[in-house]
Amino acid sequence: MPTIPPNVRGAVITGWGTALPPKVITNHDLEQTIDTTDEWITERTGIKERRVGGTTVGLSVESGRAAIEMSGVDPASIDALVLATTTPDRCVPASSATVQHELGLRCGAFDINAACSGFVYGLVQAHGLIAMGAKKVLVIGTDTLARITDWDDRNTAILFADGSGAVVLEAVEGHGQLLGWDLDADGSAERFLYADIGDTIHMDGKEVFRRAVRIMVDSATKSMQHAGVTADDIALVVPHQANVRIIQSACDKLGIPMERAATVLHRTGNTSSASIPLALADALDAGRVRQGDLVLLVGFGAGMTAASAILQWGGGTDSAVLA
Ligand code: UT7
Repeated sequence: MPTIPPNVRGAVITGWGTALPPKVITNHDLEQTIDTTDEWITERTGIKERRVGGTTVGLSVESGRAAIEMSGVDPASIDALVLATTTPDRCVPASSATVQHELGLRCGAFDINAACSGFVYGLVQAHGLIAMGAKKVLVIGTDTLARITDWDDRNTAILFADGSGAVVLEAVEGHGQLLGWDLDADGSAERFLYADIGDTIHMDGKEVFRRAVRIMVDSATKSMQHAGVTADDIALVVPHQANVRIIQSACDKLGIPMERAATVLHRTGNTSSASIPLALADALDAGRVRQGDLVLLVGFGAGMTAASAILQWGGGTDSAVLA
């Protein structure tokens, strides 16, 4: 398990932003088109409504711009853009290149596809770039799953949706916010959740559920061990927003009370790469995180992948942002 070398240049999040398309589809709307009920969806998933529409580039530009504005950084001073997405607008070029241009960035830009674990993969990657000398990195998680969802399939149509969340990371003097991380993948499980090019998502929901809880708990445990902290130290857990029962079950197994979990899925549905930054931004905007708090981000997704990170909010006391 990789540990963070001592004296490595760290980073902190200095701004965040979100974007959700305006069109809302409620559970009652779905009752009109597929054989389901609001009661079933609410009870089995925790989702009440979801947002659909827009493009991956459009939503990324909106959330990215909001994060840049909050951080106050000059877009031209950003050293890299990492865009986590499973649903790029085109095969070529990468959506990140178009987002880079539309935001007025002058830096390298690349997409990462690790499905619903993508934002945490991107965040860990961004810390690596900062350790190698970058000072400012924009990390965006965006998905437009509505375009690859079969809206006649009640197995998946009740879950998936669109959205975007972004953060600006800035290099600091001290060790910064990242105390521990874990990235995982098990390609032998690809058949349980996949979409072929040009096709819609196919999912074995029960098997994904079963594995999701296990791999979230495994990954979060590794990150906590790596950071030298325990579940009691975690002030806020920001899990992938797929199903409230998955979140509840993972929290139970980790020994983290559900009150310490950030959830937005009741109004967003499962937005894949966007779900963790959307839930993080919601908790930050609600004032749920204080300086020094430990935040556990933990995701799982198609692959199947898993990823987690422990962030000490604001970094240590020596975490002054580098000019
Ligand atoms: O980012 C990762 C993405 N994917 C996931 O995280 C998915 C993880 N899995 C899940 O969230 C859940 O497995 C689902 C929400 C997909 C399904 O919930 P479940 O509790 O596993 O339901 P089930 O498949 O065991 O079905 C239970 C019953 C069945 O009826 P019978 O056989 O008991 O009569 C299903 O036919 O519910 C029925 N059912 C539905 N009823 C109303 C299945 N889907 C629906 C539906 N509306 N949409």
